[in-house]
Amino acid sequence: MSQPVYRVCLLPGDGIGGEVISQAQRLLQALPLQWEFESGEIGFGAYQRLGSPLPEATLAAIRRADATLFGAVTTPPNLAGYASPILRLRQTLDLYANIRPCRSFQHPSSRQGINLVVVRENTEDLYSGVERVEDNGNRAISEMIITRRASERIIRQAFELARQLGFNKVTVVHKANVLRETCGLFRKVALEIAPNYPDVAMQEMLVDTCAMELVRQPEQFQVIVTTNLFGDILSDEASMLVGGLGVACSGNIGKNSAVFEPVHGSAPNLAGQNKANPIAAILSAAMLLDYLEQKPLGDLVRQAVEACIAHNQVTQDLGGILNTTEAGEAVISEIRRLL
Ligand code: IPM
Ligand code: MN
Repeated sequence: MSQPVYRVCLLPGDGIGGEVISQAQRLLQALPLQWEFESGEIGFGAYQRLGSPLPEATLAAIRRADATLFGAVTTPPNLAGYASPILRLRQTLDLYANIRPCRSFQHPSSRQGINLVVVRENTEDLYSGVERVEDNGNRAISEMIITRRASERIIRQAFELARQLGFNKVTVVHKANVLRETCGLFRKVALEIAPNYPDVAMQEMLVDTCAMELVRQPEQFQVIVTTNLFGDILSDEASMLVGGLGVACSGNIGKNSAVFEPVHGSAPNLAGQNKANPIAAILSAAMLLDYLEQKPLGDLVRQAVEACIAHNQVTQDLGGILNTTEAGEAVISEIRRLL
């Protein structure tokens, strides 16, 4: 049987995006798989060059690809009519599940014993973009929209993921004691779905308690599923427990497309210096491998990254002395050793 050729769309974006994505691409090329890469434009640079931060051609390239690897974008403040392309991407392609794993590393900046995944609803809530001002600008309203459909699919995804990972607990995080209708609906849907997964226990937790418990005893969590804004905040908090944004990876997954991205931003002040940490992008590439049903290779990449971190083969932000290219090379040589 001939080997499949995977089509991957690369969206480097702005700032350090290009530097970290090229390391992730080199790493994919070092694996025993066949790739066909296509690059697309996204972000403020694309806006300046082409008049749009998310050109139609980019959307088409993502739709054509088996999976997409995205770097980072700079969003200029106070530019009227400019919408963050990553938010538009999530909504336009209906990438409804934002998956953010956090696992301990052998490093002083990481606490030990943590292995959790935040599953964040990615299309609605306070991110629906329905906002208005009243009273001559003295009263501002944002609509928090929660639907049964979006709640159902994200909660199912969380339970399915728990099973896949061999976990036995899903924590449903909400604020239904105050937001009785919106969070109340999310909670109600979770209570309906949970009995379909008798092997996975459902626990519910208020979002403020969850923020506290993540600091107090993060080892208790396996899969956390929550609405968009809570997931945004809790996933940043969780990432700081295990080394921070330099290693935080994520996937935006929908029915027809999937976009993997390091959680960090474009860090304009680091751009062009070959200093940025490529690990978050590399771990996002590992998630892309899982998604393409190449989980053994995804595991191999994670194992190689763990070894590099444990042996201080890392960039300055993690206390090492390597530059971006060298840190990428370190992971690749570790992979070659393991293969
Ligand atoms: C993230 C980011 C985005 C979000 C911003 C850049 C709009 O913080 O991916 O978590 O809030 O979702
Ligand atoms: Mn965020």
